[in-house]
Amino acid sequence: MDDTLIHYLRAMEEMLKQIETFQEEIRQFAATDADALEQFRIRFLGVKGIIKSMMGEMKQVPVDQKKSFGQVMNAFKLLAEEKFESEKNRLSFGSSSERSAIDITLPGNPLPTGSRHPVTLMRNRIVEIFQRLSFTVAEGPEIEDDWHNFTALNLDMHHPARDMQDTFYLSTDPAILLRTHTSNVQIREMERNQPPIRIICPGRVYRNETISARSHCFFHQVEGLYIDKNVSFADLKQTLYFFVKEMFGDDVKVRFRPSYFPFTEPSAEMDISCMLCKGDGCAVCKRTGWLEILGCGMVHPNVLKNCGIDPEIYTGFAFGMGIERPALLKYGITDIRLFSENDVRFLEQFTGA
Ligand code: DAH
Repeated sequence: MDDTLIHYLRAMEEMLKQIETFQEEIRQFAATDADALEQFRIRFLGVKGIIKSMMGEMKQVPVDQKKSFGQVMNAFKLLAEEKFESEKNRLSFGSSSERSAIDITLPGNPLPTGSRHPVTLMRNRIVEIFQRLSFTVAEGPEIEDDWHNFTALNLDMHHPARDMQDTFYLSTDPAILLRTHTSNVQIREMERNQPPIRIICPGRVYRNETISARSHCFFHQVEGLYIDKNVSFADLKQTLYFFVKEMFGDDVKVRFRPSYFPFTEPSAEMDISCMLCKGDGCAVCKRTGWLEILGCGMVHPNVLKNCGIDPEIYTGFAFGMGIERPALLKYGITDIRLFSENDVRFLEQFTGA
């Protein structure tokens, strides 16, 4: 045996011993913290680490030995890598003593639950009462044409009553506008269906008005319409009496005042006795003891004709009311602008289905 070979075999033997020692060290290793783990990585797996530098010895290994030397080195490297991964996982999940420090009986972080908007609550109450009288819900567009918002409702182009319902026009020829009331839904439903028609139509409406604590450029209404043979003003009154009782209670008094709407004849406005002062007179009812809550009347024959319904056969009543005003009263709110400011501190105060 020549000297070089002896020298080489000795070196190899030495190296294998070293590897065994390192492997034992790796098996024993348990990282106390992230720092210790990093030291381990640098020592064995780093670019200038033990494994890389031993791999560098590969050049000197004779060709017929390269394969077995490679296998030894791969097993060494794999052991170091696996240890590194398992220690890393152990540290990030916490040691067993840390794990027991987590109290799994503590309540979780509560998910904030929303609440319904007071206008929605009021709308649902109104709709639900009429549903008990077999009215069904119908809805229509907020962007409307002149015909459905005005002309078909017996409000011709130059009718002075248009003045009270100025709105926002999206185009003037043809006139496309934001509807000023939910009465457009009456027209759309009567155009589509023959009587009997018994609908309740909640929705948002718009008017070109100065915004203040008492009025806004948009608000909500509920419209009612009942068309059939032999429907009379007595049916209208009875229906609304029932509504007021269910909505405001037995003690509340009702009165009808003659009024004018181009789309009804005769027309009336309905007031209820002020529930705050019980009719004695206060600031809310402007010292009258009464609160105006809706407009109503018998549907004008021209309106029926405009929608293709024969007024000689059918009659009907209609009514329309705002939602914000009764909501202000019910919840004791003094500024209508609060409804649309999206202030969670305000909105979260209302509960109900
Ligand atoms: N549309 C009317 C308004 O906004 C309210 C109204 C009055 C509706 C009488 C009706 C009605 O259906 O018959 O002022």
